[in-house]
Amino acid sequence: MLAMNYRGPHRVRIDRKPTPEILHPEDAIVRVTRSCICGSDLHLYNGLVPDTRVGMTFGHEFTGVVEEVGAGVHTIKRGDHVLVPFNIACGRCAFCREELYGNCHESNPQATAVGGIFGYSHTAGGYDGGQAEYVRVPYADVGPTVIPDWMDLDDAVLLTDVVPTGYQAAEMGGIQPGDTVVVFGAGPVGIMAARCAWLFGAARVIVIDREEYRLAFAAQYCPAETYNFESLKDPVVFLKQTTVIGADVCIDAVGADAAGSRMQTILGRKLLLEGGAVTALHWAINSVKKGGIVSIVGVYGPIGALVPIGNVVNKGITIRANQASVKRLLPRLIEHVQNGVLNPKALITHRIPLEHVSDAYRIFSSKLDECIKPVLVPPSARS
Ligand SMILES: NC(=O)c1ccc[n+]([C@@H]2O[C@H](COP(=O)([O-])OP(=O)(O)OC[C@H]3O[C@@H](n4cnc5c(N)ncnc54)[C@H](O)[C@@H]3O)[C@@H](O)[C@H]2O)c1
Ligand SMILES: [Zn+2]
Ligand SMILES: [Zn+2]
Repeated sequence: MLAMNYRGPHRVRIDRKPTPEILHPEDAIVRVTRSCICGSDLHLYNGLVPDTRVGMTFGHEFTGVVEEVGAGVHTIKRGDHVLVPFNIACGRCAFCREELYGNCHESNPQATAVGGIFGYSHTAGGYDGGQAEYVRVPYADVGPTVIPDWMDLDDAVLLTDVVPTGYQAAEMGGIQPGDTVVVFGAGPVGIMAARCAWLFGAARVIVIDREEYRLAFAAQYCPAETYNFESLKDPVVFLKQTTVIGADVCIDAVGADAAGSRMQTILGRKLLLEGGAVTALHWAINSVKKGGIVSIVGVYGPIGALVPIGNVVNKGITIRANQASVKRLLPRLIEHVQNGVLNPKALITHRIPLEHVSDAYRIFSSKLDECIKPVLVPPSARS
């Protein structure tokens, strides 16, 4: 089959790989129909995630048709068109039972902090992902969800990660009616977090980034007040002034590849001495009000990082963070898409043949051609 193949930082290509097979009775094999590239893939692509092995296929946001199921799979069958949450979860461990599907204790034999994730290095289980024609889906009774007849595939593929992650970012913020919410990052996740902040009763939503075209999109779509941090002398001073006492809630939707601080860029992205450049998190902690909440969905590497922990303590800030628990949120979010409350597919700016995966990474990582969200389409799903 055709599959994306990681060759080292900034080098990916399309290759032929063996088509995956059922390895366990609870597996399914899915023929991919849509597969996105995510900001999380850029951390892998940029070489920031340890144990990202050459030969690995990325891709944790995909839909597909079930080709085959193992003898132990009962909730989906051959021919079903499913969306597959990015978390690989067993459904039975102590954490899955609490609906913490991103923290499954069984699906990642390589580490205990994060559960398994498709196509996300050996620190997240070493599973090949969906930027391919076929994927092996473990615990197939737990994650894969049949796509309702009325749903557009472009909406479905964004329900595997972007929509639940944005929603959970707002949810973890504990937003109260009347709150001012600042979202750092106007990528797909930040845009969705800002959109969802209104659903929890925010009265003012501010989005910070440096990509003008993304800020323009966020201004219309979320809608939000938007600011380019490169044209602000100091984003923290600006935010403190405009919110008077600080924001009630700050959301970090940037993660390890943040720009904006030369020191953080050198330490976290060039020398790899910390788990990424923690610039956006820094700004979030320093611009939230005393007693406020910082919600982190931006992804960071497993090693420590230079965050202003003294300010967290002295301001009495609550920090909440996690990988999104996609399966927990799906029923509510499917309803929001059905009722028109959320329109995820508007984020998709690029539809690129799977064969051109290296161009797709280049366009998305360099923010070329006003790219917000690219989706890869394998040959069998193109008409
Ligand atoms: N926790 C989860 O479950 C989960 C799921 C999906 C994605 N993520 C993470 O969310 C983050 C965003 O994902 P995405 O797909 O939107 O990524 P993206 O790369 O498309 O967007 C990130 C945006 O942040 C902007 N940015 C850079 N430095 C900034 C700064 N200092 N302040 C404000 N904005 C800044 C960039 O210009 C870019 O537009 C990534 O870290 C990704 O790994 C987490
Ligand atoms: Zn993702
Ligand atoms: Zn589990």
